[in-house]
Amino acid sequence: MEMKISPSILASDYANLQDELERISTSDLIHIDVMDGHFVPNISIGAPVVEAIKRVCNVPFDVHLMISEPLKYVEDFARAGADIICFHAESEGDIGETVRKIKSLGKKAAVAIKPNTPASVVLPYLDELSMVLVMTVEPGFGGQSFMESTMPKIEEIRRAKPDIDIEVDGGINPETVKIAARAGANVFVAGSAVFKSENPADTISILKQNAQSQRAL
Ligand code: DX5
Ligand code: ZN
Repeated sequence: MEMKISPSILASDYANLQDELERISTSDLIHIDVMDGHFVPNISIGAPVVEAIKRVCNVPFDVHLMISEPLKYVEDFARAGADIICFHAESEGDIGETVRKIKSLGKKAAVAIKPNTPASVVLPYLDELSMVLVMTVEPGFGGQSFMESTMPKIEEIRRAKPDIDIEVDGGINPETVKIAARAGANVFVAGSAVFKSENPADTISILKQNAQSQRAL
């Protein structure tokens, strides 16, 4: 299983996004947190910003939609340059229909589950998904602490489909990345750990090495 690091620009300096993206140009993916102030109690950025940064960044975009009505907006994000579109199982609408819509737009589909949502909610869709995102904090804010209690869900999904990408998001740092990798995760979002470090590129390679050192498969 390839280990991938996906720095979250939520923790970056939005006044200097182009420079911030250059500091993480060695990453495998760029994680973009979209919040609507309704599904989560916070508002972040939308499709116009995704489109703007797409013009100055070649790393694939991992777009995490924390919004109530994903079906309404997936087309905007596909057009803006998302490569992976991830929406929440707890949001409105039929999961299968939203997955099919994302795939019909030529993008990779992923479903996210919050800490209290069981893995069983995503199991019926694994064959249609590129990735499952197991949230390791309650979505809405950066800088929270990693919830180890979510690890059994990763093990369950990994057993059900050994080759699917499993992403973790929230509180990932050079120590917690090992715990998640041991459980079977292989895509690691990190916001504060990367952007609040002195050298983001070094932090990305440390996260990757630490994940690889625990490789389960
Ligand atoms: C939280 C977001 C995360 C956040 C992670 O709702 O989905 O992607 O940016 O931030 P850290 O790594 O600081 O916990
Ligand atoms: Zn996220």
